[in-house]
Amino acid sequence: MRRTKIKINKSDFPTILHPFLEGACVFDSSCSMEARVFYIDKDEGLYLKKAPAGTLKAEAEMTEYFNKKSLASPVIDYVTDSEDWLLTKKVAGEDCTYAKYLDDPKRLCDNIATLLRQLHETDFSDCPIDRVKSYIGTVESSYKRGHFDNDVTDETRNLDREAAYRIACENKHLLTNEVLLHGDYCLPNIMLDDWKFSGFVDLGNGGVGDRHIDLFWGAWTLKYNLGTDIWRERFFDCYGRDKIEIDKLRIIAAMECFG
Ligand SMILES: Nc1ncnc2c1ncn2[C@@H]1O[C@H](COP(=O)(O)OP(=O)(O)OP(=O)(O)O)[C@@H](O)[C@H]1O
Ligand SMILES: [Mg+2]
Repeated sequence: MRRTKIKINKSDFPTILHPFLEGACVFDSSCSMEARVFYIDKDEGLYLKKAPAGTLKAEAEMTEYFNKKSLASPVIDYVTDSEDWLLTKKVAGEDCTYAKYLDDPKRLCDNIATLLRQLHETDFSDCPIDRVKSYIGTVESSYKRGHFDNDVTDETRNLDREAAYRIACENKHLLTNEVLLHGDYCLPNIMLDDWKFSGFVDLGNGGVGDRHIDLFWGAWTLKYNLGTDIWRERFFDCYGRDKIEIDKLRIIAAMECFG
C-alpha cells in the first residue's frame, strides 16, 4: 500500500463530491495506470477512484453486491460524467502488500488460499454479472484490434499472438460459471485487519465465472509480490486440489495475453 499526500484542486472533482473533500487531507493510493485512486482522510476514511467514463460501472455494481454479502465496503456514490468516479468507505486494515503480511509468506499464502476457497463457496444466485461472457468477449475484441501482450508468465512468453489465440479458441468452452469470482485476485486487492479478513477491493472484473481465473491470479501475485514461485503448490494445496484443473490454468494464462 502506497499513500502519498497530495494537493488537490477541488474544481477537478465533480461538484457532488465536494462535501467529501471539504477540509480533508487527500493522498494518492493508485496502483495502476488505468485508474487514479485517492484516499480522503475524513471521518472513518474514504476511497475515491477515478477512471475513464463508463469503466467503473461494473466495479460499482460488484462492490455493492459484495458489500451485501459483507465482503466489501459500501459504495457511497458512483458518478459518471466525462469521467467515472467511485466513492467507497475505507475497508479496515491494510492490503496484503503491507510489510507485516509479506514478512510472513507462509501465513499469507494459507490465508489468501483459504479466503479464496470461502469466496468461491459463496452463493451467487443473484449476481448480476456473467464474467465468463465478458472475459471471452475481451479476448475476441483484443485479438481483433491487435492488442496482445505475452508478458504474463514464463510459459506465455513463448507464445505468439496466433498460438495464444488458438489456445483460447479451442478451449474457451471449458470455462464455466461455477463460482463468485473476485476477478483480480491479487495481494493489493485483499484487505486484512491484523490478519483477519476485512474486505475485497478492485472488483471491476468480478462476477460469476470460472474459479481458475482467480486461482491463476492468486498464484501469480504470490510469485510477483514475494519474488519467488515457492508458494504456488502450497497455495493450490491449501485451496483444495479437488477443485483445481491444472491444465485450465494454462488456458487462462493464454487468454490473459489478450486481457
Ligand atoms: N475501499 C477501500 N478501503 C481500503 N483501501 C482501499 C479501498 N479502495 C482502494 N484501496 C487501496 O487503494 C489501492 C488501489 O485501489 P484499487 O485496487 O481499487 O485500484 P488500482 O489497482 O489502482 O486500479 P485498477 O482498477 O486499475 O486495478 C488498493 O490496493 C488498496 O490498498
Ligand atoms: Mg487494485
